[in-house]
Amino acid sequence: MSAYRRLHAGQASMTLRDIQSKYRAGERLTMLTCYDYASARLLDGLVDILLVGDSLANTMLGFDTTLPVTIEHMITYAASVRRGVQRSLVVVDMPFLSYQINPDDALRNAGRIMKETGCEAVKIEGGVAMAPTVEKLVAVGVPVMGHIGLTPQSVHALGGYRTQGRDEEAARRLKNDAEALADAGAFSIVLELVAPEAAAQITASLSIPTIGIGSGSGCSGQVQVLHDMLGMFPDRRFRHAKRYSETGEIIREAVAKYASDVREGRFPDP
Ligand code: KIV
Repeated sequence: MSAYRRLHAGQASMTLRDIQSKYRAGERLTMLTCYDYASARLLDGLVDILLVGDSLANTMLGFDTTLPVTIEHMITYAASVRRGVQRSLVVVDMPFLSYQINPDDALRNAGRIMKETGCEAVKIEGGVAMAPTVEKLVAVGVPVMGHIGLTPQSVHALGGYRTQGRDEEAARRLKNDAEALADAGAFSIVLELVAPEAAAQITASLSIPTIGIGSGSGCSGQVQVLHDMLGMFPDRRFRHAKRYSETGEIIREAVAKYASDVREGRFPDP
C-alpha cells in the first residue's frame, strides 16, 4: 500500500481509474448488490463494485417496489456497507425523487450521501433527461453511474417489469440515452432488462463500460442482486437471476437444528 493510500486508509482500494483500466483491457467487470456490514465483510474484494441498490426496498424492507425508499434508508445501509469494505468500489443508488426534481437538488442530496456514507459514487436512473444532472454532479467531483432500460423507479410508467429496447425505435432511443449519459460524464451505465442485441450495440458504441442485468452477454460486465443469486428467498425466482446457492434453505436448516437442540436439551451441552 502506498503512503498516500495508508494516509487515506478509509478509502476503497478499487478506484474509478482501475475500473476504466480493466474495461480498456477487455476484462469483464463484476458487480453485486450489498446492503449491510456483515455481507460487505464477506463480499469485499470478490467483485469489483458493490452496489448499495435501492432494491433494498425489496430485499431488506419488504416493499413491492423501490419507490418508498428514502435518502435516510440509503444512508443507513450504505454507511454500514462502507464500514465493511476495504477493496471493492462502493456505489450507492440515489432513491426516487432525490435527484429528479432539478440538478441543484440532486447535487445537494448526492453530496449528503457521499459525505454521510463515505461511498465513492452514486447511481441514478434515466437517460437523456438526466444528462444535465449527471453533468452537474460530475463537474463537482461526484462520480455517477447511469442506469437505463428497465428503470424500477419508473415501473408504473413503464407498465411493469418488462424487457426494453425490443424494436428498432426503442433500441435507438436507448442508444441515445446511453450516449447522452456518457457525454455528460457517467463512468459506466447499468443496462437492466435491455434486449440483448440492443445492449450489445450500446456497449459497442460507448467508451465507458456497460453493466448488464438480464441484458445478455454483450455488456462489459454483469450485476446481480445478492439475495437472488444466493437464493435467500427460496420462493422467488427471476429469469434474469442465476442461483449460485440455496442459502435461504441452508439458514432455515441451521436455525431449525438449533431450535430442536435447545428443545431436546442437546444445546448447551454439559
Ligand atoms: O437496485 C438495484 O439492485 C439495482 C441493480 C438491479 C442494478 O439497481
